[in-house]
Formats: sequence, C-alpha cells, structure tokens
Amino acid sequence: MSGSVETEAEAAAELAALAAEIARHDDAYHRRDAPEISDAEYDALVARNRAIEARFPALVRDDSPSRRVGAALAPGFAKLRHGVPMLSLDNVFSAEDFAEFCARIRRFLALPGDAPLTFVAEPKIDGLSINLTYEDGVFLRGATRGDGTEGEDVTANLRTLKSLPQRLAGPAPRHIEIRGEVFMSKADFLAFRTAQEKAAEDREARREAGGKLGDAIVVPVNPRNAAAGSLRQLDPTVTASRPLGLFAYALGAASEAPADSHHAYLERLRAWGFDVNPLSTLVTAEAAPDFHARMAADRATLDYDIDGVVYKLDDIALQARLGFVGRAPRWAVAWKFPAEQATTTLLDIQIQVGRTGALTPRAVMAPVNVGGVLVRHATLHNEDEIARLDVRIGDTVVIQRAGDVIPQVVQVVLDKRPPGTVPWQPPQTCPACGSHAIRPPDEVVRRCTGGLICPAQALERLIHFCSRRAMDIEGLGGENLERLFTTGLVRTPADIFRLREHRATLLSWDGWGERKVDNLLAAIEARRRPPLERFLFALGIRRIGEQNAKLLARHYHSLAAWRAGMLDARIIGSEAREALGTIQGIGPAIAEELVEFFAEAHNLAALDDLAAQVTPAEAETGDASGPFAGKTLVFTGTLSGMARDEAGAIAERLGAKVAKSVSAKTDYLVAGADAGSKATKAAALGVTVLDEAAFRLMAGL
Ligand code: IVH
Repeated sequence: MSGSVETEAEAAAELAALAAEIARHDDAYHRRDAPEISDAEYDALVARNRAIEARFPALVRDDSPSRRVGAALAPGFAKLRHGVPMLSLDNVFSAEDFAEFCARIRRFLALPGDAPLTFVAEPKIDGLSINLTYEDGVFLRGATRGDGTEGEDVTANLRTLKSLPQRLAGPAPRHIEIRGEVFMSKADFLAFRTAQEKAAEDREARREAGGKLGDAIVVPVNPRNAAAGSLRQLDPTVTASRPLGLFAYALGAASEAPADSHHAYLERLRAWGFDVNPLSTLVTAEAAPDFHARMAADRATLDYDIDGVVYKLDDIALQARLGFVGRAPRWAVAWKFPAEQATTTLLDIQIQVGRTGALTPRAVMAPVNVGGVLVRHATLHNEDEIARLDVRIGDTVVIQRAGDVIPQVVQVVLDKRPPGTVPWQPPQTCPACGSHAIRPPDEVVRRCTGGLICPAQALERLIHFCSRRAMDIEGLGGENLERLFTTGLVRTPADIFRLREHRATLLSWDGWGERKVDNLLAAIEARRRPPLERFLFALGIRRIGEQNAKLLARHYHSLAAWRAGMLDARIIGSEAREALGTIQGIGPAIAEELVEFFAEAHNLAALDDLAAQVTPAEAETGDASGPFAGKTLVFTGTLSGMARDEAGAIAERLGAKVAKSVSAKTDYLVAGADAGSKATKAAALGVTVLDEAAFRLMAGL
C-alpha cells in the first residue's frame, strides 16, 4: 500500500473515495469507451482498494469495486427509474454496535432506554438486489438496483426465473414494487463454473486451431458474480438456462400498504407465491446477538452465500417515523460477519517483479481452506508491512479473506514460532536479473534498477507494449509472449516487428499452426502505423499513462519532434526542458521520468530500433488560437445536446486540455445538469463555471 492508512476512519474515507473514483473509470471504460487512465493505473486503484479492504474487512462497502461484477452497465439495457429509491444498509460489526443502533432508535422515538424492540432477522444474501413492479397483481417489469435511483430493465430475463410469480396469488395492491435478491446457490455455482471453465478451454483450443471463437466465456469468481452475469444477459434464453433463485424481502412504492408489520409483509409475499428466506425470524433486540452467533455458525452449511444478518424493525408505523439518513434507513441495519480467517505456515516469501521494476513480496503458504477457497498465496503488500508484522519464513500465520479480496497475512502466531527463524530481509538485488534493488528514501516500493536488461521487467513491458490499450496486438498476450521471449525470438518491442522473418521457426512449434502464425503476423503488420499517443503509452515509461501520452503526442506532434525535444530536455535550463515543463498536466516528476528514460543509452537504442520498424501517425494538435487555447476544462453533470465525451473532443479541437478533476489549474468548469461535488469544489477554488449555453457560445456551436 502506498501511503499508509492507520485508522478505521481514514480507511473508510479512502474506500469511499476509491469506490467513487473506480466507478467513474468503469463508466468511462465500459460505457463511454473512453478510458481516462491506463489499465495499470486502474489496476493500481483496484489493488489499493483491495489492500485497504483486506486490512479492514469490516469496512467493505456494499458498493465496493471488489464486489462489483466486472461487466459493464450493459449498453443493451434500457434504464428504469425506481418508484422509490433502492437504499443500502448501514453496517454494524459487534454486539456493541448493534446495541448502539437500538439505542439510537429508542432515542429517536423518545422511548425509554429499556423499551422492547422487535426485529425481523433475515440472512443477508450475497446476490444482487432487484425491484419488481406488479400492476393489478401482474408482473410488469423488473430492474437491477443500478445507482439506487435507476437500474437496468431486465424484465425479459427476470421472467425466466422459476421463483418469480408472473401473477401474484390472491388480492394485492393495485400497484406495488417488491424487492428481493437474485442469487445462485453454492452447488449450482460450482457446477456452472466447471462448465464455464470447460467452455473457456474449448474456446482456447479453437483459437489455437484458428477456428471460429464465438463469444468470450466468463468464468465467474463467486456465486454473486455468476448471478449478476446471468441476469444481465442480452439474450433471455441464456438467463433461462442459468439456475437462479430469488428471495423476496422488501417493499418499494405501493398504492396501499400491504401490511402493518414486516413479518406480516413477508407472510403476504409467501402467499403471493414468492420464496421468502425460511430462516427469517422475529427476534427481540436482546436475542439478536444469539441469532447472529447461530447464523455465523450455520453459515457454512447453507447452500447460498450470506455475508451477515439484516435486522429490520418489525413495526411499519415505527419504520415510517424513523425514516432515512442519507442512503440508509434508520430502522434497519446489516450486522456483517467478520472476514474468514485461517492459520497456516509461511513457506516462503517470493518477490515478484513488475513492469516498472517494482518488487512486490508475496507469501507462499501451505495450502489452506479459507471459507471454501483453497489459498496458497497471500499478499504482503510491501516490506514495511512485513516488518510491521515481523513475518518470518517458518512462522504460523493468520490469513484472511473477505469477499473477493486477495487473501492477506494479518498476523503471526508468535507462540508457534519455531526456533532459529530470522527476520526477513528485503532483497538487495533483483531476483530476476541480479541488478541492484533500491528503495528511494520517500517511497515504500523497492525497485530493480536493471531496466531493459531485467528479463522480468522486459517481459512485463512487452506484455504492456502489446496490450489492448497500448499497441493492441491481437494474439500477443502473456503466454505467447513468454514463449517468444524465452526462446529469444522477441526481446525488445522492435523484435516483434521482425517476427515475420521467423515464420518457419514459429511454424515448427507445437500448437502453432499456419492459421495461428499467419493471424499473428497479420495482427502485427496491422500495427505498423499506430497513433503517436498509443506508441508513447506503449513504451511503458514510468508515469506515462494514457493521459500523459496523449498530452505529449498533442504537444510534440511527431515522434521525431518528441525524440529531439526529450534529448534536448536532458539539459537542465534548456529551452526544451522549459517547453516540457509548460505542457499543462506534465509536472516535474513526469518530466524527470522522461529525462531519465532518455538518459539511458539502451533505451534510446531500443527506441530507435523500434522507430525503424514502426511509423507512428502524427498527432492532431489543438487549435492554438482557438477560444480555449491553453485552457484547462473540466466537464461535469449531464449535457443536454451531446455526451460529455463529444463536448470534450470539441474543446480539445479548440485548443483545450480536458482534465478529470477540478484543481487550482482549472480554467473553466463546464457544468451540465445535476453537477455534483465538482461544482462545489470549483466554487470554492474560484474557478469560472460555464453552463452548457455559455460553453456552446464560446465553442461557436
Ligand atoms: S433490505 C432499506 N434485506 O443488502 C432496505 N437487503 O446493504 C434495503 N441484501 O442492496 C435492503 N439480503 O442487495 C435487505 N434480507 C435482506 C437482504 C438485503 C441481502 C442486500 C441487498 C441490498 C444490500 C443493502
């Protein structure tokens, strides 16, 4: 973890910020097809989120990125607005927290401190929540939770669920929204995952054979992902083939109240034909901790995943009086289970080498079952964390997993420390190339200094070079590249473009048929003229992510100009160095990385070698005399006539730099409808705010 998070409050605040930021990038990537950061930067955010969650499993949010289905808000689904918003629940983690929750209810209702409270306790199902609308007892439509206000219209898919009543049995309100959880049982999940794995292997075999591939196969990592992925199929017959269950448990909008207590409502749901979780029970406030302990103990024996118990005040009139705070009701709470832990022995601490030479320690352990998953490796984050835990090889360690989170070593069982162990020492040299490994004074990460001579870095860099957002060479993923690398055919990016000279060798390899080889060579040829920004990003220079590559491309225009500019910029005080410093968005740290890259002769040689093979297309530059020349714009909110992307592209053509967040460097904030925190921040910083009409006027639209 970079930057340490010490307290729960800090962790909670950062997790909230990360959830929002990652959601924004998901949206940019999946829905708008306009990623703002590189895969690596995105992965770093996700990893940071994971790392904090692993240390503070109790703080895992319901909207945590680690809980989200990888799949996008599929563009194929229409939006549906919920009659009343779908809220989330506050979490508690202990009997004390729960008692405080009860005390708050009593205070709010001005009840005596010992007034009895009755709750319905329900297992908190780890699936995805849905909202079902019935009119005159007939199922009309259904939506996922989405952002709580509007979700995706998955009506056709929901109709295929066996446990969804198409018509309510018996009298019902004229209009009612019934809410519940769609899930996949553990047994069905295991069978489904096995089938998907097999399908994925078959697909891989077809790829090798050069055959037709068909759609990508998603192998789900847990029952929740499986359920979510199944419900969000564009083809309802696919959903129909998946074993999905549904428990009903809540009420949305209704033309009349269906019951005056929650337990009576659950009874009505049952009578209407829904499955209601059979473990749902009326409990007093005092009995809640016992119920919780029993569910925690029985959890493993249930055929579906639960991650806690939800307690809902039974009396609906009291619920109405209590109302909501923020996005959660005052009358209900989720009492979550602690993360699952297990003890095992630490066999080794391995060092993994990343693309930029970052050395990351990883625990290798005697395999152990943690909450149904066999775990062999766990993250140790960095050497400070190892020192903090004082983990030594041979130690008995406690590891834990919460949800999807990468298992983590949380503690050493000192009583069980065998004699003769020694404190772990960070490596002084890189395990892959033997170069010095150094840790700059103000950084947490130790790095290999081997640069291009380090095979681990070289391979990781090649993988990056070919990746989708960089040069996007189809067929040159990790496995194939590793083979090309270890056999020596490809050591540098330029070698990739010389592969056509080795067609015969490739054809002689096991499993490399003519079709495969020719497809690969064609994919390489198709990339001899990449956009300059992709080319620069593909080089994998530290801190040059997609955004910065774009800035450089727009500034320097051509590879030759960039190369010349960088060489001159090595001299401090030179005009070229100044020019580099004036590019909006390129700070001194980035300039430093660029200069360092060019200070290494082997980097320059590799670049020139590559430039002899590929010719990046010249980048468009913005209009230097346009109305937004040299200005930094940030867009927020919803514009009426065009998507934000389009508006951003227009602004860029008129000379603007479009940034993601508001800072003191922002010249204009263009605020569409429902502008949120960015507008507040802009106001605080005194940034000029343009409404859509003003923006259009300036842009001459
Ligand atoms: S009640 C206002 N009951 O937990 C009440 N939620 O954090 C809102 N969940 O998004 C929900 N089991 O996906 C409720 N028995 C249960 C639940 C449950 C699982 C999930 C649901 C919701 C989240 C709330």
